[in-house]
Amino acid sequence: MRIRVATGALGKKASDLAVFFVTEGADLARSARESVGEVVAAAAKSAKSCGDFKGSFRQTISFYPEGPFGAKRVLAIGLGKKTELDLERLRRVAAIAIRQARVFRSKTVEVGVDPSLGARFELEQLGQALAEGMTLATYRFDDLQEKPSEAPPEIRQATLVIDTAARAKKLETGVSWGAACADGANYARHLGDLPPNIVNPVYLGQEAKKLARQGLKVTVLGEPEIRRLKMGGLLAVNKGSAVPPRFMVMEKRAGASYDTVCLVGKGLTFDSGGISIKPAAQMDEMKYDMCGGAAVFGVMKALTQLDVPVNVVGIVPSTENMNGSAAYRPGDIITSMAGRTIEVLNTDAEGRLILVDGLTYAARFKPSAVIDMATLTGACVVALGNEATGLFSNDDKLVRRIESAADKTGERVWHLPTYKEYDELIDSQVADVKNVGGRWAGAITAACFLGRWAKDYSWAHLDIAGTAWNARSRDYYESGASGVMVRTMVELLRSWQKRVR
Ligand code: BES
Ligand code: ZN
Ligand code: ZN
Repeated sequence: MRIRVATGALGKKASDLAVFFVTEGADLARSARESVGEVVAAAAKSAKSCGDFKGSFRQTISFYPEGPFGAKRVLAIGLGKKTELDLERLRRVAAIAIRQARVFRSKTVEVGVDPSLGARFELEQLGQALAEGMTLATYRFDDLQEKPSEAPPEIRQATLVIDTAARAKKLETGVSWGAACADGANYARHLGDLPPNIVNPVYLGQEAKKLARQGLKVTVLGEPEIRRLKMGGLLAVNKGSAVPPRFMVMEKRAGASYDTVCLVGKGLTFDSGGISIKPAAQMDEMKYDMCGGAAVFGVMKALTQLDVPVNVVGIVPSTENMNGSAAYRPGDIITSMAGRTIEVLNTDAEGRLILVDGLTYAARFKPSAVIDMATLTGACVVALGNEATGLFSNDDKLVRRIESAADKTGERVWHLPTYKEYDELIDSQVADVKNVGGRWAGAITAACFLGRWAKDYSWAHLDIAGTAWNARSRDYYESGASGVMVRTMVELLRSWQKRVR
């Protein structure tokens, strides 16, 4: 779906659907008249007098204009109370427009943008939010299904209509940014949703090489290089798998005078738990255990379209966690790339083992910050459910930056502590550290584990175990992978302060 911005009156040109938004309490007939003219004003007036439409958030009503009119259908969507309107609500109503367009089997959609919304938001922000909501809502995962003949057609074109050319220009800037961010998120969702017999480490290596063709510098390390670098965490987890590991490095440079930020993502393409095997129920969901890695891919994909004032390095260590006869065992003591030894007490706490080699590798870029993203712990899901990503860090300034980016994107994060008393829970009697910290505070002890490899730079860890898939419906997602943190990381990178070094 292409999203354009146009000036002029809504619904006058031929289209399958024209959409306008109505705030709660506004006069529907008047809103209709102002948006599309007289054509549905009478019907809107009747609807209003019946009390059927109040403009509450997400409420919809459709009209069928009589006589010659450009749009075949007109849809009004409630924005809710003016005082409660925010960018997230705009994303959601934009998504509703697209979903309803699909119900109507529309191929072309026009959406009216009331210029008075520009008083509450920058027009760039407005365009970005609408484009994100619409683009995220177009995502489907049906590649592996025969397309039924009655499936709704693809929406070819969505047009945002606003009154003046000057406003259109600002809106357009936001639209192209938002569409690129959401395309990045949709790419991450697609990698997440693909099954584990297709998306394995080798596949991810090939995907990284595809991104190289779109202008990134890409290095894919195979098993021999991974051995040479002594990535003992990644190699240990890989031992039970028939598929070799990969280690992806994707770079987008801004220039020598800019900071460098590394993003490290857990690319565990299937987590059976290994010898500490998981229960059978819902084990299929462990195909999503690469969603941290997928988020890195999504950000890098967005950066093929967008420039940010910082050098970005995306790092994805990738393997399956399987049960082959060579599999690593509880009791094993392994040596990570940094030389630190780890007592393995549970082979299902594998994400942290592959991530620490990623964190060690990141240091070679002399980063100003390293942020890792991982479906790391069930404990994080217990703590925060599907509504917020766990945030852990050794730098409060970085926490605030991430919180402020997440505030803008609507992808909630919640800061949790990494007190030294938690860190002590992973001290080992026989190695430098053990890979589990006992029953309590599992999300925190996992973060403390990573933190031991992230002493030399500003670091944050995002535990997306609860938010990477099956996130609560926000109108722009259905089931499946959410692409969470792609938009937040792009926002963070965009707002990175350029520093002369
Ligand atoms: N990939 C899982 C974490 C996970 C579980 C993500 C459920 C999403 C939903 C991770 O590798 C894991 O198995 N962690 C263990 C750690 C434990 C053994 C200390 C967990 O959370 O149970
Ligand atoms: Zn696991
Ligand atoms: Zn895992």
